[in-house]
Amino acid sequence: MTIIEIESMLVTKQPVLRRFWYPVIPVEQLVDGPKAFTLLQQPLVLWLDENGHPCAAEDRCCHRSAQLSLGKVVEGHIACPYHGWQFNGQGSCVKVPQTGCEIAPSYRVAAYACTERYGYAWVCLADNPLVGIPEIEETQDPAYRSIHEFYETWNCAGLRVMENELDLAHPAFVHQGTFGTAEHTMPDRMTFHETEWGLHVHGTLGVVNPKLQQQNLQMQTTATVRTLDMTWFMPFTVKLRIAYPNGRVHIVVNTMTPIADDLSQMVQFCVRNDTEADTPAADVIAFDRAVTLEDKRILESTDFDVPLSPKREQHIFTDKPGLIIRKKFAALLKAHGEVEQTRETSLPSPDRQSLGNWQAKQAS
Ligand code: FES
Ligand code: CO
Repeated sequence: MTIIEIESMLVTKQPVLRRFWYPVIPVEQLVDGPKAFTLLQQPLVLWLDENGHPCAAEDRCCHRSAQLSLGKVVEGHIACPYHGWQFNGQGSCVKVPQTGCEIAPSYRVAAYACTERYGYAWVCLADNPLVGIPEIEETQDPAYRSIHEFYETWNCAGLRVMENELDLAHPAFVHQGTFGTAEHTMPDRMTFHETEWGLHVHGTLGVVNPKLQQQNLQMQTTATVRTLDMTWFMPFTVKLRIAYPNGRVHIVVNTMTPIADDLSQMVQFCVRNDTEADTPAADVIAFDRAVTLEDKRILESTDFDVPLSPKREQHIFTDKPGLIIRKKFAALLKAHGEVEQTRETSLPSPDRQSLGNWQAKQAS
């Protein structure tokens, strides 16, 4: 049997990734009741407490293990659908309807840090986050408005999406249906600035300006230039600030919240210095929808077990941001005493079959 193992970052096997904040659900989706979300393979129940603040706890009751997210919210507590036990935002059981006795402290579920930002409930699975929620200053600026865009699962690793957003060689190929053009296969310039928890890349890229964008940007030219300020926030958030020659600024904020090794929740909103009267939000979303679907098609075809070592894949100069991201992930793992995990791969088909047979035998 030929089993080739490659070292790669498998998000659920790197405990340090539990020490970051992730947006897990738009808060407005919690208004009509609790919802389930799986973060790094941890099933969660999300709900709003009596003050409208989001709460997160393990999605499993400590009585008979029923899924709390199937229950309802009663006076700000999550009530189990099975026998009605109620838990508060700290995970303590505050009501057992069948008894009036005092409730022992062992009657509890694990609760996780949860807070609202930018209209989303953000969760950190560890008590000691390494860094705060990414700051998007423009959301505080009255000249800007925020528009929720997308909330959906993508079958790929977040790291691939982070690299993609900072990769200025892909638009000419991937985004030919929207803004990419064969006339600009490369950025005109790129500069880099590493920070403790991220990376800033500045660049300019020539793009086409199709009809919908001409309306959205109120710019009647068929081609234009994007001045890009791209910030990666470790581990899986990118802020893509796109400025156009007429002063319009379109900022995409995208987080790929890790669900499992091969599955991410794509959470995206945008921030713009125009108004609904200038450009309807629906038109902004329509254009970004087309762009993201172009990326999704390709990114879902990539391997989810991304190697952090530069030796496993080949590179060109436009991959430098991605290589810095990988280097910083490798340093993060090292600093926390973790190593990249391995995944069996590239089994020739007869071996794959015999492995399947073997696994089936073990299971029976
Ligand atoms: Fe939750 Fe019984 S299983 S109250
Ligand atoms: Co793209």
